[in-house]
Amino acid sequence: MATSYKELGLVNTRGMFKKAMAGKYAIPAYNFNNMEQLQAIITACIETNSPVILQVSKGARKYANQILLKHMAMGALEIIKDAGSKIPVVLHLDHGDSYELCVSCIESGFSSVMIDGSGLKFGDNVALTKKVVEYAHKYDVTVESELGVLAGIEDEVSHEKTHYTKPEEVEEFVAKTGVDSLAISIGTSHGAYKFKVEPGQSFPELRFDILHEVEKKLPGFPIVLHGSSSVPKEYVDIINRYGGKLGHTAGVPEDQLRKATHSAVCKINIDTDGRLVVTAKIREVFASSPKEFDPRKYLGPAREELVKMYKHKNEHVLGSAGKA
Ligand code: G3H
Ligand code: 13P
Ligand code: ZN
Repeated sequence: MATSYKELGLVNTRGMFKKAMAGKYAIPAYNFNNMEQLQAIITACIETNSPVILQVSKGARKYANQILLKHMAMGALEIIKDAGSKIPVVLHLDHGDSYELCVSCIESGFSSVMIDGSGLKFGDNVALTKKVVEYAHKYDVTVESELGVLAGIEDEVSHEKTHYTKPEEVEEFVAKTGVDSLAISIGTSHGAYKFKVEPGQSFPELRFDILHEVEKKLPGFPIVLHGSSSVPKEYVDIINRYGGKLGHTAGVPEDQLRKATHSAVCKINIDTDGRLVVTAKIREVFASSPKEFDPRKYLGPAREELVKMYKHKNEHVLGSAGKA
């Protein structure tokens, strides 16, 4: 075992989820790929006293370098300590697609991993998840897996169609795998186009009926929602005002996420909203200050706006503010 997350000062998700379930809020799981995103996430979580899950995808590892990402997360822990804050931090692999990738992350100090076998047949998903759980639990690392398929396209995650989670499968899946939390498909999807919208149409209600059936089958078991960006119109409008061409975007309305936090949903994944904020701010600076060429002058305002957005999520959507 190369690095233990415990020595690094990270925690796994177990205690966090227990508290979130009892307190009826959800832990923010924010993806990061670069320094400004990470700084914004930790600043927002320190300032709102919120626990946080820092998520790294396979694509992030490829883009930013896995060694650097790990050291950035370590740096974040030091900054938190230096600020006199005690917010708990999980370092989590998002959408791990193989046993080997999960092992590599655990060896480098991750405290939580997702093994995403949602595109596999039930039996194969069980077998892969079980194998990861057996390895991870030796080191007290927690494991998330997924049943049901979310539609949407990201660098490394791509499915054309939604397949809702079948509540009749969840009990057997959890019993056979020993997994610690389960991501389910109830109508969210990845990216900025979560469903086809005609102008003026609103996001359809998530399938809370499926969520409630799952809760009945697995009382007290932590549930995860992926694809939970709200795709705020204000940022899409800024992007399009300054030369962007985002079509009919659609996100999950905040009130539906708030409603979900009162259930067994303990972790809510948000990536796209951060991408929109950064793109909006950079486009705005480029348009208003065309002579500017110092990256700090456009990444700085993007970072400031990210802090505002993450604080808003913690305080008004997930309810994690003040829960560290
Ligand atoms: O759910 C996927 C996350 O948004 C990560 O996306 O694979 O493009 O880094 P990525
Ligand atoms: P969004 O694309 O809605 O931000 O979802 C992110 C996600 O699920 C990361 O795993
Ligand atoms: Zn996801």
